[in-house]
Amino acid sequence: MNINVVSLILNTMKKVYKIFIPAVLVFLAACTTSIPIETKIPPRPAGQEDMLAFAAPALDTVRVGFIGLGMRGPGAVRRFTHIPGIQIVALCDKHEERVDSSQNILINAGFPQAAAYSGSDHAWKELCDREDIDLVYIATDWQTHAQMAVYAMEQGKHVAVEVPGAMDLDEIWNIINTSEKTRKHCMMLENCVYDFFELTTLYMAQQGLFGEILHGEGAYIHNLEDFWDHYEGDWRMEFNRKFSGDVYATHGLGPVCQALDIHRGDKMDILVAMDTKSVNIPEFLIQKRGVPPEEAYTFENGQNTMTIIRTQNGKTIHIQHDVSSPRPYSRMYQLSGTKGFATKYPVPGYALEIPQATLEGTPNLENLSAHRFVPEEIRRALMEQYKHPIQAELEEQAKMVGGHGGMDFIMDYRLVYCLRNGLPLDMDVYDLAEWSCIGALGRISIENGNAPVRVPDFTRGGWNKIQGYRHAMVSPTS
Ligand SMILES: NC(=O)c1ccc[n+]([C@@H]2O[C@H](COP(=O)([O-])OP(=O)(O)OC[C@H]3O[C@@H](n4cnc5c(N)ncnc54)[C@H](O)[C@@H]3O)[C@@H](O)[C@H]2O)c1
Repeated sequence: MNINVVSLILNTMKKVYKIFIPAVLVFLAACTTSIPIETKIPPRPAGQEDMLAFAAPALDTVRVGFIGLGMRGPGAVRRFTHIPGIQIVALCDKHEERVDSSQNILINAGFPQAAAYSGSDHAWKELCDREDIDLVYIATDWQTHAQMAVYAMEQGKHVAVEVPGAMDLDEIWNIINTSEKTRKHCMMLENCVYDFFELTTLYMAQQGLFGEILHGEGAYIHNLEDFWDHYEGDWRMEFNRKFSGDVYATHGLGPVCQALDIHRGDKMDILVAMDTKSVNIPEFLIQKRGVPPEEAYTFENGQNTMTIIRTQNGKTIHIQHDVSSPRPYSRMYQLSGTKGFATKYPVPGYALEIPQATLEGTPNLENLSAHRFVPEEIRRALMEQYKHPIQAELEEQAKMVGGHGGMDFIMDYRLVYCLRNGLPLDMDVYDLAEWSCIGALGRISIENGNAPVRVPDFTRGGWNKIQGYRHAMVSPTS
């Protein structure tokens, strides 16, 4: 063979290898990327135990300090004035006038004035340092929740913190480790699990009315256009501007997780998130705030974010987040089981297989069929028959005190009731973790081409210890 031909062949082969080998290496690297994507689970520090079914010593009086008195916080102060066995010891907000207006709530309710903390970003630490507080109740912006919760627990206080309890995985693990180490409760203030339809439907589910629940849905669909300009320092817009993922999943997810016994016999296992581009908020920023379009359209949070989750026991959950489309308010809330179905929005309804509904003295029972919703009078009768004992006890007072129709009052009442009776709280630190992690994990999924992401076992091995979600009661009917 001619020497020129040989060198031509060799050169051509070199060129092919130059392109081919890196391409093969990239392909192999892609193949070896772990799917689902795993996040780091820090080992439980030596000497620490989980907080499953944890009950702290009973408190005769729950002495509380509130941090964050913006749009949400003062309502909690007011609700607490209706709860027996509490003492409101201290109030804190960066703004003195907000503390003053919550002092007025106390005065009007016939309570003594509380110690006041304001005027700096750090005054809340002095509140946490006090010896005469048992519970720190945090209603500040999302960005401050975790540091305040951790510090308060380190000062020996139980913590109740607004939703979401934490915004990234480091914060979540820090809260779990601090709660386990200090043996202090850290409950997230997820009020929607106490809404009347959700409570009653949970009770129906626990009596087996829907058979085995295989699928649940939830959402936060709420056009916040009227609210954007009222958050202190624009914190909510800022967070949404920077981060994709369902940043406010807890209202939709909480009630579904309770019905699916998450970390009480099942656990969330794999998650996939997908979002639309964002249009309405960038347009709002351009039109209402004069933000240049090229900047406004760097907005990260999708207009509609969908997250789907598969559980260890083969169930699915679908969660949505949309805070800017012109849509009616909805938390979706659906449960779909082997024997029945429940939905709350846009109109509440149940569909049941005969003979699931065994109502005495209720007309048209033979008309029940899972092909359509039960008639309205039967839905009402079912909700009466299966009214959750907590709702039966508190409904009238809850409606009178209010707070999203009464559910906020039931949440606060139950928190104090469990602390005073030395019972496990209705929501533990792992609920906080599971319901708050969706934003951070969804973001990983979205940023990796909607890849599946493993939901960490925040209990670190304890998710199957407790069988079935139940509210703790002093006696079965109290
Ligand atoms: N569960 C619900 O239904 C519900 C409803 C609304 C809001 N929220 C939650 O409540 C929280 C507060 O929301 P909001 O609408 O009241 O916001 P907001 O901006 O009106 O109020 C936040 C308050 O926290 C104060 N604050 C912030 N940093 C502070 C610090 N370092 N020290 C002392 N005070 C500080 C601010 O001054 C402000 O008054 C958020 O987590 C939100 O998600 C829950």
